[in-house]
Amino acid sequence: MDPTISGKAVLARKSMHQNQSQSKITPEKGQLDSNSKPSVAFTHLGCEKNRIDTEHMLGLLKQAGYKVSSNKADAAVVVVNTCSFIQDAREESVRTLVELANEGKELIIAGCLAQHFKGELLESLPEAKAIVGTGDYQHIVEVLQKVEAGERVNKVSTTPSFVGDENLPRLRTTNQAVAYLKVAEGCDYKCSFCIIPKLRGIQRSRPIESIVAEAQQLALQGVKELILISQITTNYGLDLYGKPCLAELLRALGEVPIPWIRIHYAYPTGLTSEVLDAYREVPNVLPYLDLPLQHSHPEVLKAMNRPWQKTITSDLMSRIRDQLPDAILRTSLIVGFPGETEMHFDHLASFIEEQRFDHVGIFTFSSEEGTAASSLPNHVPPAIALARKDKLMALQQPISAACNSSWIGRTVDVLIEKQNPQTGEVLGRCARFAPEVDGEVHLEQSKKIEAGTMEPVLITGADLYDLTGEIVGAKHMVTNLKSPLRENSKN
Ligand code: F3S
Repeated sequence: MDPTISGKAVLARKSMHQNQSQSKITPEKGQLDSNSKPSVAFTHLGCEKNRIDTEHMLGLLKQAGYKVSSNKADAAVVVVNTCSFIQDAREESVRTLVELANEGKELIIAGCLAQHFKGELLESLPEAKAIVGTGDYQHIVEVLQKVEAGERVNKVSTTPSFVGDENLPRLRTTNQAVAYLKVAEGCDYKCSFCIIPKLRGIQRSRPIESIVAEAQQLALQGVKELILISQITTNYGLDLYGKPCLAELLRALGEVPIPWIRIHYAYPTGLTSEVLDAYREVPNVLPYLDLPLQHSHPEVLKAMNRPWQKTITSDLMSRIRDQLPDAILRTSLIVGFPGETEMHFDHLASFIEEQRFDHVGIFTFSSEEGTAASSLPNHVPPAIALARKDKLMALQQPISAACNSSWIGRTVDVLIEKQNPQTGEVLGRCARFAPEVDGEVHLEQSKKIEAGTMEPVLITGADLYDLTGEIVGAKHMVTNLKSPLRENSKN
């Protein structure tokens, strides 16, 4: 599991909590329907994998003629798509359920908390009319019909085995220009701190043709940035084709008319030369590497049961930098893992100083019942774990600021996300920033500018998190094309 999607601390513009947090589901305008069927509202918690499942449930219900709405006040039934990654996330899910129950709502509990606690959860909350597991959300219409008929429904498979595809209806909840695409579900690794394989099952990849077909649909909907997600995206295809096939997938996606393809959760061992070549050679694949390294010291990595313990990451990092000189590097790290000594921590601190990542998420270890790590000896006291996290953040901050500053003077494409109608100020992102977890590009702009367009922007300023810039015209762009620093150049 990549704790960039959950955890207790992060050195990023937005906190993990925010990324994980409950979001109101707002289907795009014009997608709401109205007829005699009851209105169903959704509340979504957890990660982007959960978001995609929510979007499929919305699509299925809308196709079946239900009114789907972000407005819980009017809804007869609320579907809560829950998270169960760590105790904080479980508490947030339960708090949401109890609040809605107190408001008198009929509840359907979907997602990871439902998968985790199964029938016990249904029994403990009388207002819950149904629970739906992580491999069962495709049955949401049938579940709701049974609820309408007065049944209480337990639809949780013991082992989740489903993965959605391009034929499953989907109602997107992200802004129009950005879409997540799940290339595989589940995970075959057994990292000792992670409960996700228990909640999501073993890895099952979608065929390349299915992923490309969905990407083509999204391109037709005006998507400009496609974000590939799974548990370990570098393992994509292993279960289906007998070997990891991320390079082949990226080359196939190179044919899809979407200008940015971003890959999340690249496991270090999967970054072969072939994969890095695809990153470099496929024009719409961004050189953005999100590497959940977790630690640098081999003994800690061994205790974490990360399946690459021999060569310390420095080799990998040099290989990435050789093959992808423009790489934007993000990592996530856990401090205070059981048995982590001062010596191990110092190793990690030196590693961070040496490697100079663009973005780093730092988390304190959270002991989760049902994981191997919870029964390891020598747990680190929380105060020490917290102090280590603070120290690492203090080390990383000037590095992040310097990496941001190195972009001053570049002209880069910026995907416009929103404009303040009062001040005219525009927010967007360049390739350097992934949505939700990284920073933004601030632009002064007096003219109205449409969200979802891409504009050439000269970067004029930087701080720890964000960049500032100005939209430039044709003359500047012609001059700039001569510059070797141009972001999109691929050698
Ligand atoms: Fe995601 Fe939370 Fe489940 S992080 S996979 S929704 S446990």
